[in-house]
Parts: sequence; structure tokens; C-alpha cells
Amino acid sequence: MNILLIGSGGREHALAWKIAQSPLLTRLVCAPGNPGIAEVCETRAITVTDVEGLVALAQEIGADLVVVGPESSLEVGIADQLAEVGIPCFGATAAAAQLETSKAFTKQFADRHGLPTAGYGVFEDAALAKAYLNQFDAPYVIKADGLAAGKGVVIAQSRAEADDAIDDMLGGRFGQAGARVVIEEFMTGEEASLFALSDGQTAMLIGAAQDHKRAFDGDQGPNTGGMGTYSPTPVLTDALVEEARVRMIVPTVAGMAEEGMPYRGVLYAGLMLTPTGPRLVEYNARFGDPECQVLMLRLKSDLVPLLLAAATGQLPTVKIPEWHNEAAICVVLAAKGYPEAPQNGSVIVGAGQDFGEGVKVFHAGTVLGGGALKAAGGRVLNVCARGATLEEARERAYAAVDKIDWPGGFHRRDIGWRALA
Ligand code: AMP
Ligand code: GLY
Repeated sequence: MNILLIGSGGREHALAWKIAQSPLLTRLVCAPGNPGIAEVCETRAITVTDVEGLVALAQEIGADLVVVGPESSLEVGIADQLAEVGIPCFGATAAAAQLETSKAFTKQFADRHGLPTAGYGVFEDAALAKAYLNQFDAPYVIKADGLAAGKGVVIAQSRAEADDAIDDMLGGRFGQAGARVVIEEFMTGEEASLFALSDGQTAMLIGAAQDHKRAFDGDQGPNTGGMGTYSPTPVLTDALVEEARVRMIVPTVAGMAEEGMPYRGVLYAGLMLTPTGPRLVEYNARFGDPECQVLMLRLKSDLVPLLLAAATGQLPTVKIPEWHNEAAICVVLAAKGYPEAPQNGSVIVGAGQDFGEGVKVFHAGTVLGGGALKAAGGRVLNVCARGATLEEARERAYAAVDKIDWPGGFHRRDIGWRALA
């Protein structure tokens, strides 16, 4: 098979690494890729939102499957355009990707299909939004409706901060993405991410992971795209997974089909494990980053038949995935200043060495310049490891982290603490 993979982060490096191991593969091309991905397969400098360029590339290489990493490609209709030319796409249409690209859509969908989630209101008017807050106590949850590069959610500790967030969003801080705000009831509990493949009609679970959203140790500092992950997640018991599958995943896939927007690709459910059971925080229409990295490390089965079956409506014909009976961990190395203002261009030494058993380093935001590997993004490297236990995986990962010489970066030392506590 010829496969085109779209994206340039650690998630896509992990996908490329796993896809490249498939005996079904003839040729893998990644657009635009990164220096780590370029060690695995061919790369082409086409950006993830250049739908025309990507479709042309898929045709040029005779792609039997296109695998979409980021939501931004879905939002601009890559799956829709590939359908026009008859190329199977692992990734949702723009309409189906609204489960990620519009929080208001998802909340209203959740209402229509009875998915357990926080109570909410959707507003275009600041005065009405603020009046709606009267029924809640702090903390207040204010969200921009659309994609806002991970910055569109404010958990406000005071009413003044909540009012400011509303003014800020409706005042145009995120452009069209903030033309509507969603205000939600605050939920408490531990968070976990559950992943399912869907082929438009049926769903198949593809693992779970826990992320660490705050920048610094002890869950301090600003929210980020994710500073590290681990899998499996002891807190998400089999019973909770089954509850989430039956009460969220299955009705979501059925509901999207019923509403004429069959969902194909990976459905990422952000869960809050509340005292009254799992509730939906949000859906994403893609693999999590860096959740994907630990899932790929643990997945024993060939990924390609799973992706192809999801893309072509054939999920019931593939075998349920098998997993390595080991734990996996991912430690994100980020550029100093991330998330607000990551400093680019610092030199990284030693990322390519042999780190020993079970360790894998994925590139997330790197460039090659003047023969050196340099930081080119907020999250720069993903140091991942597998081990018999989470403790062992963690030891291996941090031993590798300590061998990388990068004064321009920082990372958390406590990835996995919830499961190890
Ligand atoms: P989201 O982008 O919707 O996942 O929100 C980012 C983060 O904000 C989540 O991972 C939660 O930690 C937090 N959050 C979002 N919605 C709620 C809510 N209704 N109650 C409590 N925390 C929330
Ligand atoms: N790691 C969180 C996300 O991918 O959205």
C-alpha cells in the first residue's frame, strides 16, 4: 500500500514509526513531516491546510490511504476533497469534525443524544453570558466556540476574571472562533483520554492515556497542549471504560450517522471521572498529542489495517487490536518560554543516540540547520519509553532525557505521578 500521512508533530512521528513497521506498506510519504519523520520516510514540504496540494500529492503517489494527524486539516475539508477523488481517508469530514471544531455543536449534540456532560449555555451576547454565570459559584468555565490553539478555555477563579474572559472572547481575541462562547458547569474529578476508531457506523476502542496539561511539576503553571502522558491509566478501570463506551462513544457514532455526518477516523473523548461517573469534557477529532505516542508504543497489532478499515467502513472485519503487556510513558521536552513565547533556534545535542532498551525519541518541533538539530516550536522532543511497569518505563525515559544536552529546553520531572502515587 501507498500511504500519505499529514502532519509534522510528535504524534505524526509516532504514527509514521508505527505505519513504517507494517508489512502491508510499499511507500509512506509524510507532508510536511519533520527531521525525525524524515528518518522514517519520505517527506514533502506541503502544509497541513493546503488541501489542493495534499490531494495532488495523494494522487501523485497513488495513495491507497491518507492518514490525517491534525484537526486543522480536517477543518478545511481534507477528507471531503479526498472523497471527491475516491481516495480513502482516515479522518473526519469537515462536518463530522465539528465534534472538535465547535464546542457549541458538541454540547448541543450531547443534549440531543443524552451524552453525560456538564450543563452549559451558548452565547453571542456578553450581557446574557454574564447573567448566565449568576447560577454558578467559582470556578467558572468559559470557552471560545471554535479552534483557538489550545487557548480557548478559561477556568476563572473569580467573577471578575470570568467577566473579563467573556469580554475578551466576544471582543474578538480569537476572531471567528470566539464569536460564540460556551459557559459550562464546573466538573470535578480526574481527567483521562479515551480513544476509539470509527468507520462511520461502528466504533472500536483503541486505548486510553492520561496527559499532564500544566507546564510545571506538581500541576503548576499555565495550561499547555500536554507535557507528558502514560498508558495504561489505572484510574480508568474496565468498568469506567465500558460505561464511557456505552454512554458516549456508541451513541456518538450512531448519532453522527443518523444526522447525516458519519464519523470516520479517531474519536478522542476527554473524560472527567466525576463522583457520579465519567462525563464528557470535550471531543477531539484526532489522536491526542502526546497521547498518541504512548498508544503507538503499546500497540502490538499492525496499525495499517485498523486505519484502512476505519477509512473504508470495514471496522467489523478487523481483529480487535492486541497490546504489549507493558506500560509506556512520554516526557515532553519543550522550549523555554513555552507555552506563551517559546524561544526557537537553540541547539539540541544527543537526541539521535542509542538510548537502550524500550526507549524511543520522537521529534515534535525540530529543524535541521547548519548540521545541527534545533528547536522549532513549543513542544520539541518526546522522550518515550516502555517498561514492565510504569516505574520502569519512567526510569528509562528520564535516563534518556538526562542524556540529551539541550540548555534551551525544560520538562516536567513528575510525569506519571498520579498513577505512581
Ligand atoms: P478543553 O479544551 O475543553 O478540554 O478544556 C481544557 C481543560 O479545561 C480540560 O482538560 C479541563 O481540565 C478543563 N475543563 C474544561 N471544561 C471543564 C468543565 N466543565 N469543568 C471542569 N474543568 C473543565
Ligand atoms: N494532549 C491533548 C491534546 O492532544 O489535545
